[in-house]
Amino acid sequence: MNALCILIAISSICSATKVNVMMPLDTVANNGKLNETAVRSFGILKNAGVYGVMVDVWWGICEPSPKRYNFGGYQRLADLCQQAGLKLQCVMSFHQCGGNVGDNVYIPIPEWVRNVNDIWYRDVHGHDDKEVVGLFVDNDPVLQGRTPVQVYTDYMNAFKQSMGNRIGTVINEIQVGLGPCGELRYPGYQSDRWSFPGVGEFQAFAPKMKQMFQNASKAANHPEWDSPPTDAGSYNSRPDDTSFFRANSGGYQTEYGKFFMNWYSNLLIEHARKILTPAVSIFRSSNCAVAMKVAGIHWWYGHASHASEMTTGYVNGNGISGSDFYKRVASLLRELGVIFDFTCFEMSNNEQPSDSRCQPEDLVNQVIQATRQSGVTMSSENALERYDSTAYNRVIQNTCNKGGKVEAFTYLRLNDKLVYNQNNLNEFKRLVSSIANC
Ligand SMILES: *[C@@H]1O[C@H](CO)[C@@H](O)[C@H](O)[C@H]1NC(C)=O
Ligand SMILES: *[C@@H]1O[C@H](CO)[C@@H](O)[C@H](O)[C@H]1NC(C)=O
Repeated sequence: MNALCILIAISSICSATKVNVMMPLDTVANNGKLNETAVRSFGILKNAGVYGVMVDVWWGICEPSPKRYNFGGYQRLADLCQQAGLKLQCVMSFHQCGGNVGDNVYIPIPEWVRNVNDIWYRDVHGHDDKEVVGLFVDNDPVLQGRTPVQVYTDYMNAFKQSMGNRIGTVINEIQVGLGPCGELRYPGYQSDRWSFPGVGEFQAFAPKMKQMFQNASKAANHPEWDSPPTDAGSYNSRPDDTSFFRANSGGYQTEYGKFFMNWYSNLLIEHARKILTPAVSIFRSSNCAVAMKVAGIHWWYGHASHASEMTTGYVNGNGISGSDFYKRVASLLRELGVIFDFTCFEMSNNEQPSDSRCQPEDLVNQVIQATRQSGVTMSSENALERYDSTAYNRVIQNTCNKGGKVEAFTYLRLNDKLVYNQNNLNEFKRLVSSIANC
């Protein structure tokens, strides 16, 4: 082997896509203790070629009262990963677990946060959502004198301190939660009111958020734009049933509609910057990667309005200049040195109901293109529970053929059906080795 071949061989090993596995939601239970049941399958995962496991570090469990932290269950988990030869990715989960698709566990955010008024996203119908603290108070001292950004920063610092030299060794990545389900988004589709494939609702009606919008309108010399859209239907509307999202003639195409959408979407980008900046300075210096997740809003992707993406905060097309949200996130993350995590890697267009204009393949392609153009590192996940080769082949295709820089695929999620069913385990092993040999 000459030097060049050796170099190529080494670099291809280094850049092989890794497969991680998401731990059960209740791996660390409400009492703060590690449930070691799932850990029993670490040997099987390691044998299958898995690189690491990902776990939610629940705010509601770990900060029961302000600045009193309990990360004991996670220290133990990290040590067991180390013993098994697996890496650990930790999600800073500042959101409620439960009430969302696939959640079988209920872990609210801390009681001392839930008791605060006027910090919640509100829809046009006046319903407040307590899954996450609204981004509109990020810099207000509303949490017993601390701002949410300070609270998140303190939490990440405390986690780093508590984990000590596990950070950057066994803990190789921190994913920072920036909204519901840990994703950078608004709670546009809340599972207690929404069902697939409804358009969802804008979450811009909290008193402060409305005022912010009115101020922005005034500054743009349009004081008459005094409210976010009130004609966008409700959670389960279809786009063409609403005057705001109706194809090609809806309010979304007016100057007002575009102005609102840009404003709504920009707030998400600012929110990401505010929280990722301290995250990067806390963890990157300790040789630990930082990642962030974007939701896969594939329904109505094929409708001119991209209605569901819009209520989520993802302005995409719609005649608004510079409005590719995915590209904007990709350049922000590239600038900050944060990994772009995206989902839906297992989904095919032809598996979706034909009347809801779902185009997960096109969405995934758009995001892959956006990450490639910006040069940001990408990682991926599947969105729904699957064990079959159709889904796995799609994952392999998306990861290997198109995604120049997909650095890791995280399988959702570890359970007995994956590891103790021989057929499922064999399929999974094939997935892992195919991805490793991309
Ligand atoms: C631990 O997890 C297993 C499997 O998910 C579950 O059956 C069991 O009840 C859990 N134990 C505790 C103490 O929560
Ligand atoms: C809106 O503008 C007024 C007047 O400048 C200011 O007092 C108020 O704090 C602003 N509100 C928000 C939510 O930004």
